[in-house]
Amino acid sequence: MRLTGLAALLPAVSIAAAASVGDRRSLARAASPTAVTGFVTTSGQNFQLNGEVFTVVGANSYWVGLSGLSTTEMNQAFADIAAVGATSVRTWGFNDVTTPSGDYYQLWTNGTPTINYGSTGLENFDNVVAAAKENGLRLIVALTNNWADYGGMDVYVSQLTGTDYHDYFYTDPAIIAAYKNYVSAFVGRYVDEPGILAWELSNEPRCAGTTGTTSGNCTAVTVTNWIAEMSAYIKSIDANHLVAVGDEGFYAIAGNSDYPYGGGEGIGINFTANLEIPTIDFGTAHLYPISWGETTDPIEWGVQWIENHAASQKAQNKPVIVEEFGMTTNMTATYEAWYPAIINSGLTGDLIWQAGSYLSSGPTPNDGYTVYPNNTVYGMEATYAAQLKARNAA
Ligand SMILES: *[C@@H]1O[C@H](CO)[C@@H](O)[C@H](O)[C@H]1NC(C)=O
Ligand SMILES: *[C@@H]1O[C@H](CO)[C@@H](O)[C@H](O)[C@H]1NC(C)=O
Ligand SMILES: *[C@@H]1O[C@H](CO)[C@@H](O)[C@H](O)[C@H]1NC(C)=O
Ligand SMILES: *[C@@H]1O[C@H](CO)[C@@H](O)[C@H](O)[C@H]1NC(C)=O
Repeated sequence: MRLTGLAALLPAVSIAAAASVGDRRSLARAASPTAVTGFVTTSGQNFQLNGEVFTVVGANSYWVGLSGLSTTEMNQAFADIAAVGATSVRTWGFNDVTTPSGDYYQLWTNGTPTINYGSTGLENFDNVVAAAKENGLRLIVALTNNWADYGGMDVYVSQLTGTDYHDYFYTDPAIIAAYKNYVSAFVGRYVDEPGILAWELSNEPRCAGTTGTTSGNCTAVTVTNWIAEMSAYIKSIDANHLVAVGDEGFYAIAGNSDYPYGGGEGIGINFTANLEIPTIDFGTAHLYPISWGETTDPIEWGVQWIENHAASQKAQNKPVIVEEFGMTTNMTATYEAWYPAIINSGLTGDLIWQAGSYLSSGPTPNDGYTVYPNNTVYGMEATYAAQLKARNAA
């Protein structure tokens, strides 16, 4: 997800029928955390844990380590996610700043990065991992961002090349070295940590970033080569954890003018080629028909997108998850179509964008997609998580 000022201004989603207090109590009772031990692996199109199928289902919470939350609040946020039967949460393992502020993991000064190991840095992420595990959850952690939110690739580019050619992130030798240095510190800290489910190279990598400026030389091959190099690098320092891209799942089908399928200017993602890389363990897709301009029948467009990715999963015999999806309107009707499409197509797993909680410090961020525990969609998450697990157990 690209966070925009506009999204932040969207009104809170109002949903008519909230789960009753009784429903919420029974959801909370249903969630008795199981101990988080062992590492999740893959076998064909499934995830596995200790020899059994592991269902990747849950939500995104980019903010849990980046909002100054106390450990008690982190715990509450994860408890709200776990109560619907979630097993997995996707979050941000990056925040690149040029002035220290709040929780951040890397500070840049005149082209020199310094990793923040302290209580506002990696020690804070230790707390995130511990709170997730307290609630029986594992984390999928993205290591940088295509977009300018929380710094991301553009900070490396401006600090190390003095340009705003976003795609230099994938090719400039000094940037490659700096990203590896960050990854080495972050990933290296958690090699033996079962609370990590997977590493992701970046949230939504594309040739172009927030400003849209590129060198003009970036193609899908550029990004695929970077993915191959960086995923192999992570495997070289951490043999325990799965590695994925964190991309939106765009195809590069020649002649297709619909950009999620055809790619083109500024995209640079070939889902099929990236999933072929041996050091990429599973495929990821995102699903935002409205922000992608697919407005004619967004619900059905999403069903098709899910089915196409399930077909890619079968063709390549690797798991594929739709790890971000959302609509800000008509949420109930949309998810009543998309969740069954996931289950019936055989797609391996799903993570909704995004989790929400009412914490003692106030509500967590609402970008219009947020599902708080008293929303109807929250109850749907429980229903369909149970169905996905039942499908996998059958
Ligand atoms: C694009 O690639 C060409 C050929 O390698 C190179 O000469 C040119 O400098 C590159 N452009 C930028 C902006 O890096
Ligand atoms: C995308 O990847 C597939 C599989 O490797 C390949 O056949 C196809 O030519 C690629 N498309 C583009 C536009 O590079
Ligand atoms: C909501 O989804 C339903 C089911 O597809 C559709 O009939 C209806 O037009 C949609 N409403 C809006 C406001 O998009
Ligand atoms: C959900 O709870 C919050 C906080 O108590 C409240 O402000 C909001 O109106 C509630 N929403 C619904 C749909 O009940």
